[in-house]
Amino acid sequence: MTTNNDLDRRDALKLIAGGLGFAALGARAEPAASAGAEPFLAAPPMETVRIGFVGVGGQGTAHVENLLRIEGCVIKAVDDIVPEKVTRIQDMVERAGFPRPTGYSRGPTDFVRMCETEELDLVFNATPWEWHVPICLAAMRNGKHSATEVPAAYTVDDCWALVEGAEKYRKHCVMMENCNYDRMEMMVFNMVRQGLFGEILHAEGGYLHDLRSVKFSPEGEGLWRRAHSMKRNGNLYPTHGLGPVANCLDNNRGDRFASLVSMSGPSRGLQLYAQEHFPEGSPQRREQYVLGDVNMSLIKTANGRTVCVSHETNLPRPYSRVHLVQGTRGLFQGYPHRVYIEGRSKADEWEPAESYLAEFGHPLWKQMEEKSRGAGHGGMDFLEDYRLIKCLREGVPTDMNVYDAAALSVVTPLSERSVANGGRPAEFPDFTRGHWKAWQPLGIVTA
Ligand SMILES: NC(=O)c1ccc[n+]([C@@H]2O[C@H](COP(=O)([O-])OP(=O)(O)OC[C@H]3O[C@@H](n4cnc5c(N)ncnc54)[C@H](O)[C@@H]3O)[C@@H](O)[C@H]2O)c1
Repeated sequence: MTTNNDLDRRDALKLIAGGLGFAALGARAEPAASAGAEPFLAAPPMETVRIGFVGVGGQGTAHVENLLRIEGCVIKAVDDIVPEKVTRIQDMVERAGFPRPTGYSRGPTDFVRMCETEELDLVFNATPWEWHVPICLAAMRNGKHSATEVPAAYTVDDCWALVEGAEKYRKHCVMMENCNYDRMEMMVFNMVRQGLFGEILHAEGGYLHDLRSVKFSPEGEGLWRRAHSMKRNGNLYPTHGLGPVANCLDNNRGDRFASLVSMSGPSRGLQLYAQEHFPEGSPQRREQYVLGDVNMSLIKTANGRTVCVSHETNLPRPYSRVHLVQGTRGLFQGYPHRVYIEGRSKADEWEPAESYLAEFGHPLWKQMEEKSRGAGHGGMDFLEDYRLIKCLREGVPTDMNVYDAAALSVVTPLSERSVANGGRPAEFPDFTRGHWKAWQPLGIVTA
């Protein structure tokens, strides 16, 4: 089914892709066309980051609230298809003591006008998935850095378009993976760096979240997220589980995801939910879903290590991101969080991970705990926004770069391809074009 929204998006993409010099997002030229492109990792520093924010629903509003409390940035423009949401954010920014940002609300592609007319350093978006790529490309093409909510993209071509856009315009395209900044994830990363688990051999991550009521809601994500379950079958939301463990495996910095196999089971949960929550004859009860309720993907890295990533959003269950990191000396396993270290833990017994926080808690958490209290998702969203602004101001590489955005997001289309091909392996593109071999592992970042 083609909707007006699809057509608007396609027109916007054509317009934006024209400036990239390749037939973006249709039949794109293969990587050879961009061979010789210089990787992009850091930009000149700046005193104040002037931000245009696109998409101020649930998650966008939470980011705006954080940004208003972070030194060295200002929200200059705000865009949403719903004018009342724009006004609400304009009021919020003014109440926080800043000048009223310019509002944009002339339809789904008004972000292009914003990017063309406003003097901004960063265009940050928290829109539905289908808009992330057009917005990032419009930003970079108009000389602005871009930051996007997850996943950055969900086709292989779109992942390449972001990489090639960042390289061509020398602008950041940062995927805002907040789970990289959660307390346990950061502690585990710190423990990996200190060698507690030995050589890391295997990891698991997932997004196991009962989203049935969210998908059927008449507002917020209900307006767009359920539609993906009607058309697509694979891991639609891989980055929360993968982001943190990818850092532990030095993805793109000494190793890289090489290939993936993926399988989905039957699709039952949404049908059942619709039957039980909507009256006979309602349109929801006639909807057909193709998204398997449980999807499992297994990734092999170039250095031969394994990562299992799962997706499950249609079944009753408590929340989990799985979170397992295993090495030659021990392992961490999440939900509930526990640790086993040979020689330190009692033989064959888990220890509660909380008991490791005092010794191995990440320095960023220790520095920022007070400031981040009360912010979205237990404070991790504040740390994430803080780090982005700090890196931009200092002109240093961001914690996540466009190559990470592409390598993590591309799991979605590769899983869809593998599922459609009966579980056959799908190869990851090397978005770094070989640079992963030389790029240095991520360090322990601070405030
Ligand atoms: N990192 C996290 O923990 C987390 C949590 C929730 C959502 N998200 C991500 O954030 C994004 C938004 O999710 P949400 O829950 O805030 O959804 P939402 O539906 O509440 O908000 C989306 C907003 O974008 C606006 N919008 C839609 N199309 C637009 C367009 N073309 N131009 C401008 N504005 C447009 C909508 O009006 C709405 O205000 C998604 O990518 C989602 O995956 C991430």
